[in-house]
Amino acid sequence: MKTLDGCIALVTGAGRGIGAAIARRYAREGATVIVADVNEANARATAEQVRELGVESEALAVDVCDTAQSAAMFDRIVDRFGRIDILVNNAGVIRVRTLLDTTPEDWDFIQNVNARGLFFTLQAGARRMLDQPPLAEGRPCGKIINMASVAGRGGRAMLGAYSASKATVINVTQTAAIEFAPRLTVNSICPGPVDTEMWKQIDREWSEHEQRPLGSVWKERSSAVPMGRHQTPDDVAGVASFLASADADCITGQSYRVDGGAVMQ
Ligand SMILES: NC(=O)c1ccc[n+]([C@@H]2O[C@H](COP(=O)([O-])OP(=O)(O)OC[C@H]3O[C@@H](n4cnc5c(N)ncnc54)[C@H](O)[C@@H]3O)[C@@H](O)[C@H]2O)c1
Repeated sequence: MKTLDGCIALVTGAGRGIGAAIARRYAREGATVIVADVNEANARATAEQVRELGVESEALAVDVCDTAQSAAMFDRIVDRFGRIDILVNNAGVIRVRTLLDTTPEDWDFIQNVNARGLFFTLQAGARRMLDQPPLAEGRPCGKIINMASVAGRGGRAMLGAYSASKATVINVTQTAAIEFAPRLTVNSICPGPVDTEMWKQIDREWSEHEQRPLGSVWKERSSAVPMGRHQTPDDVAGVASFLASADADCITGQSYRVDGGAVMQ
C-alpha cells in the first residue's frame, strides 16, 4: 500500500521544476496526477513521465490567471476522475527588480499569477473538495498545498513584488485553513533557493543588475545554507508528499520552510 493510493492530485505549474518533481513524487506514491501548466508541451512531457511511473495522468493547458480556465479544469477533473483529493498551487513567476525600478506592470504580472491566480484556483478547487465525501471515514475531504517561499516570510531586497505575493500566499493559506477546517487541510511550503529555471532567471537578472559574474548570486545564496547546499525540487516534493498524506491529516494552516536551516525559528 502506497501513501497516496486512490488519490486524485492536481499540480499547477507542473511542466517543469518543483511542480514536475511533485507530480513524479505523487505518482511514485500511487496517486493519479493531473499536470496543469500554461506551457502545454511541458505539461504533456511531465504527464508522460508520470504515466511511465505506472499511474494515470492527464496534461491540461491552463493559465491559472484565467478564472474560467481554472473552474473548467476542476469540472474536467471531476468529470473524468470523479473527485479531487489533492491540489498543489505551485504555478509561480518572478522578476528581480529594486523597489524603485518595479513598474506597475511588474507588480501586476507577479501578483496576477502568484496571488490572484492562486487565490481563485484554491477557491475553485475547495468548492469541489468541500462537496465530496472523504476517501476514508474520519479523514479530511481534501488537501490543499500552496507554494509560498522564504521570501514570503519577510521582505527581500530586489524581490519586493515577489515577496509581497508570497506573503499573500501564506496569509491566504491561513484564512483557507480556518474557513475550511475540519473538512480540508490547507498548508504552504516555503522553499529557499531551489535549483530550477526560476533560480537561473533570478541569478541572471540579479547578476546583470549588480554587474556581477553569472552564477555568483546563486553561489552566494547556496553557500549561506547551514546544510551546506541549495535545495532540490525533490527536497520540496518530499514535504509536499508528507502534507498530502494521512500522516499530516491534523496539520493545517502551517507554512513549512524547506531551506536547509537558513532561517531557524
Ligand atoms: N526555485 C526556487 O528557488 C523557489 C523558491 C521558493 C519558492 N518557489 C516557488 O515554487 C514554485 C515553482 O517554482 P520553480 O522554481 O519550479 O519555477 P519554474 O519557473 O521552473 O516553474 C514554474 C512553472 O509554472 C508555470 N506557470 C507560470 N505561470 C503560470 C500560469 N499563469 N498558469 C499556469 N502555469 C504557470 C511555468 O510554465 C512553469 O512550468 C513557484 O511558485 C515559485 O515561486 C521557487
